[in-house]
Amino acid sequence: MKFFVDTADTAEIAALAASGLLDGVTTNPTLIAKSGRPMGAVIAEICKLVHGPVSAEVTATDHAGMMREAAVLRAIAHNVAIKVPLTPDGLRTCRALTDDGVMVNVTLCFSAAQAILAAKAGAAFVSPFVGRLDDIGEDGMGLIATILEIYRNYPGFKTEVLVASVRGPAHVVEAARLGAHVATVPPAVLHQLFAHPLTEKGLAGFLADWAKTGQTIAG
Ligand code: G3P
Repeated sequence: MKFFVDTADTAEIAALAASGLLDGVTTNPTLIAKSGRPMGAVIAEICKLVHGPVSAEVTATDHAGMMREAAVLRAIAHNVAIKVPLTPDGLRTCRALTDDGVMVNVTLCFSAAQAILAAKAGAAFVSPFVGRLDDIGEDGMGLIATILEIYRNYPGFKTEVLVASVRGPAHVVEAARLGAHVATVPPAVLHQLFAHPLTEKGLAGFLADWAKTGQTIAG
């Protein structure tokens, strides 16, 4: 399972990249706005920090506009994945970019029918938003299970299921249990994945006992 981090905060990304656990990054217009910085500079900096796919989202809503924006974004670095919305124009753009050898992440997926279309359009990734489905009383992880089941029926579908809108460790664990290819996780949730009270208690106990010995390992 691959871990992407869902943020445009380059300080967070640098720290997580140093952990060796990061396989990629996803951004969206909201996250870029939150960074308060120009999109091109942010994406370029992220692409230097992380060698895996870095999703940069178009904001045009028509095919021609998306293609123009994609040309600018893909020129930033070889590992930029162009993120397009799951609309007719978005999927047309996905097909054109995919045929040109560009990774495309189809975002704002909320149904299995949409996920089938993304795979048909050749997307490298489809991003179902599990948290936003849970928020309206639907079953986000149930959608992931359905999409994976469908994709497994068709070995010709190469699209990876990128679990997005993750709200907590339970989403990550369930995504892994189902065999989702990728989870994109907010930094806070990535930090939560490390946490267990017995780990903290156990470490404190070991260190207290070690201190009593007066020894050091590395001098
Ligand atoms: O980047 C797409 C997705 O992960 C957004 O999540 O938390 O805004 O629903 P959220």
